[in-house]
Amino acid sequence: MNRPESIQTEQSSSAAWWRRAVVYQVYIRSFADGDGDGTGDLAGLRARLDHLVELGIDAVWVNPWYPSPLADGGYDVVDHRDIHPDFGTLAGADALIAEVHDRGLRILIDLVPNHTSIEHPWFQAALGAGPGSPERQRYIFRNGRGPDGDEPPTNWRAVFGGSAWTRVDDGQWYLHIFDTSQPDLNWQHPEVRDEFDDIFRFWLDRGVDGFRIDVAHGMIKDLSFPDVAVDRLDERGQRTPDGSHPHWDRDELHVLIRRWRAVLDDYDDRMMVAEANVHPDRLPLYVRPGEYHQSFNFDLLKADWSADDFRSIIDGAASRAAAIGAASTWVLSNHDIVRHATRYGLPPGTDYERWLLDGPHEVLDAEAGARRARAAVMVTLALPGSAYIYQGDELGLPEVWDLPIEVLEDPTWERSNHTVKGRDGCRVPIPWAKDGPSFGFGPGPAWLAQPPIFGDLSVEAQDGDPSSTLNLYRTAISLRRDLFRRDEELEILDLGTDVLAFRRGSGATVVVNMGSAPLPAADLPADEIVLSSEPLIDTDLPPDTSIWFAPPA
Ligand code: GLC
Repeated sequence: MNRPESIQTEQSSSAAWWRRAVVYQVYIRSFADGDGDGTGDLAGLRARLDHLVELGIDAVWVNPWYPSPLADGGYDVVDHRDIHPDFGTLAGADALIAEVHDRGLRILIDLVPNHTSIEHPWFQAALGAGPGSPERQRYIFRNGRGPDGDEPPTNWRAVFGGSAWTRVDDGQWYLHIFDTSQPDLNWQHPEVRDEFDDIFRFWLDRGVDGFRIDVAHGMIKDLSFPDVAVDRLDERGQRTPDGSHPHWDRDELHVLIRRWRAVLDDYDDRMMVAEANVHPDRLPLYVRPGEYHQSFNFDLLKADWSADDFRSIIDGAASRAAAIGAASTWVLSNHDIVRHATRYGLPPGTDYERWLLDGPHEVLDAEAGARRARAAVMVTLALPGSAYIYQGDELGLPEVWDLPIEVLEDPTWERSNHTVKGRDGCRVPIPWAKDGPSFGFGPGPAWLAQPPIFGDLSVEAQDGDPSSTLNLYRTAISLRRDLFRRDEELEILDLGTDVLAFRRGSGATVVVNMGSAPLPAADLPADEIVLSSEPLIDTDLPPDTSIWFAPPA
């Protein structure tokens, strides 16, 4: 087993490393290209580990790296026990795991249990074996409705648009709650359950420290196949707050979670974090004892730059976490949403998905967005719980909203009949150098071209500049250890409507001016300033700026 002594010792004595970790998300296709084919890979990641060490993070989460036609960026898996040849080899993954551990970091991988790729051998066998065969039982095949069975079995909608059912040549339909290239597995089937126990063990034996579980609110479907009642759909045609939806967030899911947890508990100090996109009242169910260690809290992904919104989200999450003894998780961006440096530059209430395609693009205030993004990370890094950083956040990367439509790869674009542009704009490869064909991402051009502004935002451009976003992240992550990591205490302070302020158990205070007027120095704590997201003018706190104050002397 590939686990160094230092990690084993710390793990056996530590109070759950993941409760306070800073986790860095690597979207492998776009992180660093080591072999020059234009696609990011394991060699690129291994060559850039020092960047992560310097940043001061605790763990890396790598997006899916398995063999896949990449119809959905790798969330369409063909073989859960191997590595995509574009990304490297299993031996390369073993080497990466060892090198990550050598540096005192941990590694989480992405597991996708809800569906496979249509190219998965099980699905190919199901297609070949025909209706009623045991091979079809591992997926969800049904006859259609209507006299010729040519209408889908239910009215369920796919997340990426259109019906959740696709018809095959012999007339049956298969279910896919995402893209048509991602058939849903039948988790009521014992073989599916056994297979995934084995997949968990395969990677745990190789030394990974845990898993990010994709679509953790999917998996179990109501096999009586009721239509979704129209009045229970939310604005995206999805999910209900009470567990009564036929394919989201069903109570029977928790049996699976407990089963997986039992597998993980056979190993030392591993963890799993749920991507459970459910009603906030249902989220605590996923982190009950014996279930997930953590669940992403996506509330900040949906919040405008507003002190009221931030306050109520922080308050709600902190009290929910305290009530069940789970740690909070804080996420500002990931590979599925418009980057927060751009979100915060848009007028409150903007529908980001629509804005990408339809604009009006001149309403974007990119400078304000960049400032607010810097201020925002000083919030998430100061809160109790763990903070997830998406690659490029530390460079202040904006969304590349003007990608030409010919280069779009996200299946959302096609499935939405060209009404939703999709997620490519937050997946543009990382700029490491000021110039070069892909700004140091690789020796040649990248699979998705970067805009010229990426040179100025590159690691090379920011590295030696003390006022850069990169150096703000480095300093903040390092200060966080002493100022904010030791306890879970949080007291929200009232410094005015437009001001988010809170004090942590250490006595350190965080003040964020989210309004449009400077906050007079007289209203601020008298303690020593240890970090601010912008240079301070006089001693007033300018708009869109965060300050960390040391505990009172
Ligand atoms: C999750 C992933 C997303 C993917 C989807 C389907 O939401 O984060 O990128 O498209 O699952 O697997």
